[in-house]
Amino acid sequence: MDIKNNILETIGNTPMVRINRLFKNESFKVLAKVEYFNPGNSAKDRMAVKMVEVAEQEGKLILGGTIIEGTSGNTGMGLALAAVVKGYKCIFTTTDKQSKEKIDILKAVGAEVIVCPTNVEPDDPRSYYSVARRLAKEIPNSIYFNQYDNLANRLAHYETTGPEIWQQTGGKITHLVVATGTGGTITGTAKFLKEKNPDIQVWAMDPYGSLLTKYFRTGEVDMNEVHPYITEGIGEDFVPQNYEMQYVDEFEQVSDKDAALMARRLAKEEGLFCGYSAGTAFQGVVQLKHKLKPDDLVVVILHDHGSRYVGKIYNDQWMMERGFLAAKTFRDLVNSRDKKKVITISSDKSVGDALELMKKYNIENLPVIDNNEVKGSLSESGLFNLILKKDADFKDQLINEIMQKPNPILSIDSTIEMITKHINKENGAVLAYDEAGELHIVTKYDILQALSNG
Ligand SMILES: Cc1ncc(COP(=O)(O)O)c(C=O)c1O
Repeated sequence: MDIKNNILETIGNTPMVRINRLFKNESFKVLAKVEYFNPGNSAKDRMAVKMVEVAEQEGKLILGGTIIEGTSGNTGMGLALAAVVKGYKCIFTTTDKQSKEKIDILKAVGAEVIVCPTNVEPDDPRSYYSVARRLAKEIPNSIYFNQYDNLANRLAHYETTGPEIWQQTGGKITHLVVATGTGGTITGTAKFLKEKNPDIQVWAMDPYGSLLTKYFRTGEVDMNEVHPYITEGIGEDFVPQNYEMQYVDEFEQVSDKDAALMARRLAKEEGLFCGYSAGTAFQGVVQLKHKLKPDDLVVVILHDHGSRYVGKIYNDQWMMERGFLAAKTFRDLVNSRDKKKVITISSDKSVGDALELMKKYNIENLPVIDNNEVKGSLSESGLFNLILKKDADFKDQLINEIMQKPNPILSIDSTIEMITKHINKENGAVLAYDEAGELHIVTKYDILQALSNG
């Protein structure tokens, strides 16, 4: 019989999978250490259980106690699984940047989750670090793990991830690539591998908006580097104690957009339905590939599973709203902008009313609608011509006296190429009805926006 005593015993020994298509024109080889095979679907199961075990050994966690942690979800999942199996309660603090799916998953495994603001300093009392610390003081028999500075984090990877990679590659690994946050994965894994072979190169991948890359290069903790970014689970606005930069050879920054697009390619081209940070790690390999030699064997850690990002990087509309994917049709253009509802006016209103609406909503085109029927159009340039005629009481003129031709009505599935054929000096917008009979507008400005994102 081959039976695990509990789910925690299934952590680790994750597969190493060859990347076949992404780098098919290169002579170096790339492998993915697929950490979403862990029961909590991420690499963080390893360190979560290790932090619990060390706390138990040190007598800091006793049966019925409460585990408190600031977590973007993955560490929380590992801790929650350990808590269920071992009989603890869990309270997690997290930020409002995290996907809703991640938070719901934590609740599903019995944790209480407190969502805190992202854009505050770590020592602000509202930050998820501060709230976790305060709760640990207030709640009796509780422990705040602090994955950033808790060295059991990197120890877990030193004891498990490093040896697995060494054994799975038969000691042939030449490069380790890790998207990095607390620093636990990269430091622990790299320390083990470099002890085996000091020539192994270790590359850390960081999002723009994190200060870690500059810190690595200059030793300076520069808060000017810090700005909001979208990629989850990686990058920091301080330097956690789990880092030992001596084990890292390169730090490279990857944009939110490139990381998201790369994660999607991993799913579509390799069947690896992975999380956002895996996109960062693989995009980093693309950016640094000029440093690789023909026989190099690159191992990239693929931290977590794509299911936690279905509402984000795997959602076309989310991608378009951020300019990460180009809109392709009328429908995409409408979905990808903030203002979705078309503003219209009826023909018995005055030019003054129209100008007021245009100013209020900051729009240049106003379809004229009577009884649900498109009767004409008003455009900023058309109204401006009226003003040029120096008609003193132009504001009181009725719209049905001065309106222009209706904007063309197209199919909602028209492509951008089809739409642009109808946009010219005389006509700055096109209209379409959706399946529910609702009218939508696309303007010259929407097209320019979409093309500049492409
Ligand atoms: C999805 C994801 N990728 C990468 C990391 C970075 O791992 P580490 O904190 O060990 O640096 C994390 C950490 O939370 C993560 O959740």
